[in-house]
Amino acid sequence: MRTVNTVSELRNAVREWRSAGQSVALVPTMGNLHAGHLALVSKAKEKADRVVVSIFINPTQFGVGEDFESYPRTEQEDQEKLNSSGADLVFLPAVSEVYASDAKTIVSIAGLSEWYCGASRPGHFDGVATVVCKLFNIVQPDTALFGLKDFQQLTVIRTMVRDLNFPIEIVGVETVREASGLAMSSRNGYLSADEKAVAAKLYQSLCIARDAILAGQQSYEDIENSALLFLRDCGFQPEYFTVCRAGDLKKAGMDDMDLVLLAAARLGKTRLIDNIYFSR
Ligand code: PAJ
Repeated sequence: MRTVNTVSELRNAVREWRSAGQSVALVPTMGNLHAGHLALVSKAKEKADRVVVSIFINPTQFGVGEDFESYPRTEQEDQEKLNSSGADLVFLPAVSEVYASDAKTIVSIAGLSEWYCGASRPGHFDGVATVVCKLFNIVQPDTALFGLKDFQQLTVIRTMVRDLNFPIEIVGVETVREASGLAMSSRNGYLSADEKAVAAKLYQSLCIARDAILAGQQSYEDIENSALLFLRDCGFQPEYFTVCRAGDLKKAGMDDMDLVLLAAARLGKTRLIDNIYFSR
């Protein structure tokens, strides 16, 4: 496995693979890799001959006062984990390699980027869409893999790929969880031991709501309100809990069969998100 820091080195490597007729998959990450990220890499190995993993803590997707400065930077450990994961190349660029100092172009997916996580993190999905668009143009993969853990992010990217005609297959990979049910996340490292025990209740709240819907409960508003109450009782400060249509993330009605429940909540200083999708 090689690590490169520049766009031109990356393009040279990809060009060589292409001339040998090999296909390429991209796994974009911000590093601090855990089993969730590695599940994307192993799925990528199944999909393509060569796997590129990018590690780039993208400043444009962090808002003012968010954790850009303190976001865990563990490049050495990350590369060791990737070495035994089957990745072929790690792209680890500096911010100046990715963004011109006077960059003017922003990719923005109207509507979708302003709901749910976008409401509490204005500009976040513009930063995500812009950097993923740039990574797609830099690597030009056949396939790119993203976690279902960030369901709204995946929907933003699928929409961008459709709207901008990227010839890239987007693959969503199941959320990898701790035994407690807590979705693995780089931000779980911010939780104290006590908070970690409580954090698993976020997934529990989603399971309870799903089971209520599957048992035939009709009012989604009641389900959302009970989930918010449950989360408050557990010690969270919930941001949202919403029953959506899995395709476009609009609020679900009784006619919708493919659903996703999206939730975000703060526990102490840590912001957690999770979701569950299912068909009625
Ligand atoms: P990051 O949080 O590092 O996540 C990288 C990828 O790993 C994303 O596609 C995310 O959905 C996936 N992932 C995270 N936790 C997971 C879990 N428990 N199970 C399965 N997949 C999981 O998401 C980002 O980085 C950035 O926004 C990025 C897309 C790289 C753009 O900067």
